[in-house]
Amino acid sequence: MIYSFRNFRNVAYFAFGRGTFDRLDEILAPRRKGRDSCVVFLVDQVFRAGSLRERIPLRENDRLIWVDVSEEPTTRMVDHYRDEILGYGDTLPDAVVGIGGGSVMDYAKAVALMLTNPGSSADYQGLDLIRNPGVFKVCVPTLSGTGAEVSMTAVLAGPSKKLGIKCDYTMPDQVVLDPELTAGAPRDKRFYTGMDCYIHAVECLTGTWRNAYSDAFAEKSLALCREVFLDPGDASPEADEKLMIASYLGGMSVTYSQVGVCHALSYGLSFVLHTRHGLANCIAFNHLEDVYPEGVRDFHAMVGKQGIDLPVGVTRDLTDEQLDRMVDTAFRLDHMWDHAFGKGWRDKVSPEWIRELFLRM
Ligand SMILES: [Fe+2]
Repeated sequence: MIYSFRNFRNVAYFAFGRGTFDRLDEILAPRRKGRDSCVVFLVDQVFRAGSLRERIPLRENDRLIWVDVSEEPTTRMVDHYRDEILGYGDTLPDAVVGIGGGSVMDYAKAVALMLTNPGSSADYQGLDLIRNPGVFKVCVPTLSGTGAEVSMTAVLAGPSKKLGIKCDYTMPDQVVLDPELTAGAPRDKRFYTGMDCYIHAVECLTGTWRNAYSDAFAEKSLALCREVFLDPGDASPEADEKLMIASYLGGMSVTYSQVGVCHALSYGLSFVLHTRHGLANCIAFNHLEDVYPEGVRDFHAMVGKQGIDLPVGVTRDLTDEQLDRMVDTAFRLDHMWDHAFGKGWRDKVSPEWIRELFLRM
C-alpha cells in the first residue's frame, strides 16, 4: 500500500559505465553559459593525491574545493562553502559537481541549493522548506551504497538536529556512474558504505510504507548486494558495477518507501558520536536481529565473509546527557518508526526501548 500521495521527481540525466568519468567535460558543456562560465567541483580530499585529480575537467574559470569528510556533513560547512563560492564574483556558477562518497554528494546538493536560498542551511533542515531551485547539481559517486546520487535528501548535522534538507530541488540533475572510480576504495569503507544500501533495501522491504514500486527496486538491490558481499565475496570490476547499481536502486526504493529502525538509531549515533553513516548503520544493524531477523542473519554472514571487525562497546562510556540526546535524536524520526511499525508505532516504541538498544552497541 502506498502510504500517501506524493509526486516525486527523479534524476534528470544519468550516465553509467566504466570510463564515463572521462566524458564529464562533454557532459557539463551544455550547462555552461558563455565563455566566462564557472563550474565548482567539490571533491573528497582523499583524491588530492593520485591520478583522479588530473582527470577532473577544470576549465579556465572553474574552481576546485577539496572537501574534508572526516566528519559527517554539517550545516556550518555547507554555509562556509556557499560563502566561499559567492565570494568568487557576481555570477553564480553554472553547476556544482560533487565527486566523492555520500558526504561529498550531500555537500554538493546542499551547497547548490544554498547558493539561491537566503540564510543558513540549518533553516532548511526538514521537508519542502527550500523555496528556490538551486544551481545545476552533478553527483559523481566514488563509493557505492549511500544512494545519495538518487536521493531527494542532503543529510546534515545542524546545531540542534541531524536532519536532511529534503525536497524535489535536492535531487541531482545529473549523475555520472563510473564503477572504475570505486575500485580503489579501502575494504572496510567499501563494506560499510555498501551495507548502507543493503540496509536501505531490508528496511524498505520490511515496513508499512512498502509498495510494488519500492519493492521492485529494493529486491534487486538486495540481490545484487548478496552477490557482491556473499557470492563470491570479492572486489572485482563486475562487483563494482553491481554495487554501484545496487546503490542506485536502493536509493530509488527509499524514495517511495522509507528507512526504518536501523536508520533512526544510526542518526542518533552519528549525531552524538559523529560516527560515519555507513559505519553507524552497521553498528546498529548488528543488534537488530529481533526486528530484521533474516536481514541481520545475512548481514552477519557478510561481515564474516568480508573479514570485517565491527566496533563494539561504542556507547559504553557515554554520559546520561549524551545518551539522552542520542535517544531523542532517534525518537523524533517519526516517519521511520511509522514505516517500521505502522501508525500505532508509539505503542511499540518507547525512549526506554531505544535507550536499551543503544546500550547493546
Ligand atoms: Fe542510509
